[in-house]
Amino acid sequence: MKSIETYSDYLEVYQKSVSQPEVFWAETAAEFSWIKPWDKVLDWNFNTPEVSWFTGAELNITQNCLDRHLSEYGEKLAVIWEPNDPAEPVRKITYARLHELVCRFANVLVANGTKKGDRICIYMPMVPEAMVAMLACARVGAVHSVVFAGFSAQSISDRINDSGCNMIITADGTMRGDKKINLKEIVDDALQVCPTIKHCIVFKNRGWNIEMKAGRDTWWHSEMHKVNAVHTAEVMKPEDPLFILYTSGSTGKPKGVLHTCCGYMVQTGFSFKTVFNYKPHQIFWCTADVGWVTGHSYIVYGPLLNAATQVMFEGIPTFPDAGRFWDVVDKHEVNIFYTAPTAIRSLMAYGDKYLEDKKLTSLEVLGSVGEPINEEAWYWYHDKVGREHCAIVDTWWQTETGSVLMTPIAGLGVAKPGYAMYPMPGVQPVLVNEKGEEITGNGVEGNLCIKFPWPSMARTVFGDHERFRQTYFSTYPGLYFTGDGCKRDEEGFYRITGRVDDVINVSGHRIGTGEVEDAINDHECVVESAVVGFPHDIKGQGLYAYVICDKPITDLVKLQQEIKQLVNDRIGPFARPDKIQLVRALPKTRSGKIMRRILRKIAEGETSNLGDTTTLLDPAVVEDIKSGVQ
Ligand code: PRX
Repeated sequence: MKSIETYSDYLEVYQKSVSQPEVFWAETAAEFSWIKPWDKVLDWNFNTPEVSWFTGAELNITQNCLDRHLSEYGEKLAVIWEPNDPAEPVRKITYARLHELVCRFANVLVANGTKKGDRICIYMPMVPEAMVAMLACARVGAVHSVVFAGFSAQSISDRINDSGCNMIITADGTMRGDKKINLKEIVDDALQVCPTIKHCIVFKNRGWNIEMKAGRDTWWHSEMHKVNAVHTAEVMKPEDPLFILYTSGSTGKPKGVLHTCCGYMVQTGFSFKTVFNYKPHQIFWCTADVGWVTGHSYIVYGPLLNAATQVMFEGIPTFPDAGRFWDVVDKHEVNIFYTAPTAIRSLMAYGDKYLEDKKLTSLEVLGSVGEPINEEAWYWYHDKVGREHCAIVDTWWQTETGSVLMTPIAGLGVAKPGYAMYPMPGVQPVLVNEKGEEITGNGVEGNLCIKFPWPSMARTVFGDHERFRQTYFSTYPGLYFTGDGCKRDEEGFYRITGRVDDVINVSGHRIGTGEVEDAINDHECVVESAVVGFPHDIKGQGLYAYVICDKPITDLVKLQQEIKQLVNDRIGPFARPDKIQLVRALPKTRSGKIMRRILRKIAEGETSNLGDTTTLLDPAVVEDIKSGVQ
């Protein structure tokens, strides 16, 4: 396939990719290694919805991530692991070594009874073994369900029970900055209510003294010693499940978004190479955690599919000081750096002094992901970090899309601050109005949908296909609805404006208002609550909770602390509300629906222009809330 080195190359490739999508994707797929090639490129129906790519093929994604590279790149570094504490040693892992570790751990899984199709929960810190565990699952055909190691015990058990995992892989613990995180203790707590878990394999990361439950828990290293390093990858069909990743939506519990083996491989591999314009000598660093989709696609699968060398980082951006990212860039001569706007804004707030003594001369491409990047942060990233010469790729995508769908491609020179710019080859975005009619022309704004399938799209919600249909394919029949609002400017370039549903994007983490409300409502004094987002300088959006209590509250600060702790325990620290306001009642329509629009405006500090309040059951409620604004 034609490589994309200029904007006119892009236009040519894009044109072909939409006029002949099956030809385009077949050419892209031909670059991978296949046990058996496909008979048919695509079958699809967005109403049921069902999508199958590359029917008839046989493959294993890990063969493409590892075995395929061994002859040419066996001694090339796959991972340069930078520990939380810069005084501790760096670990360097070649492709040959990573292959060996994955084969061994695949044998450990088999020895512990894992079969194709089993679900395995992974709750790991940012260490190479997290990657090994994921790849070993994929190698034996088990479905990994990685849970970000900042989630609470309850979130782990909810996810394990929803997908029926029979094994969990974890570690004793990890350090984040100077904070000690005892992962095994959290897992033990979770497993009290997870009857399907038969095995817990524990990687010794810190060497802490932890409890091991006889008959259930075993050590990673002792299991690895029992097996050999020869493992033939399981033969997988294209639509066999690869992984489940839970993500929040407007309503209900988080959904287990399911991705399948083949289409995900083809598009994450293609997108990594294309978006970042990756060249084989470059060093890549994505600062995400493997627990989120960015970590799945651009730490584990995308880079390895391209035999890339990458930095994997255990720590946080501000330890030992706010110059840590830049120290790591200099230390490992990183060429492509991929992070979230929240990290950029928080480091920007520490001031430029942490950048002044850094070289940063290796940097060529800077990526942004997870939330809209404001112009101030974009310019700081471009001018101060990129020293005005690096390409910025503002990549828009979602857990459900599997890989980047819109972005300026690195090196093509066409970019605007805050814009995801143009669709990747093979991606067909449309803007629609409230009635679901396509908005054509430029200088317009609407809800962002995708009208044609792409290989790495999610196929279902684990165990609930109807929920998948309802959530993504029923709002606008025949279209995949992203939940995002979007502008197309006069030149035809796209700018994502943010969620149009009740999902709040806090520091790039997707949080469903309903989930936080459920946690708050568990407080013994709370009878009802409503959570909305408000603009936050660092996090992008913060959480503002309005709560109604049925008992007199004498100590408001104590109540606020208890509610925060409750959310911390039920979901995780990142979902803690920033502001909690006690209210007498919530603004509801006569049919009982909370008017969140009003609550959002009040949370944003808007007290005069609240729009039409005449449909409210009791308009006086609004005045009460306004007078109590924090
Ligand atoms: O609202 C969009 C926002 O993040 C949402 C997807 O979140 P999640 O599934 O957690 O995946 C995050 C990492 C891909 C989207 O619906 N979002 C993601 N990237 C951008 C963005 N908003 C604006 N600009 C982006 N580049």
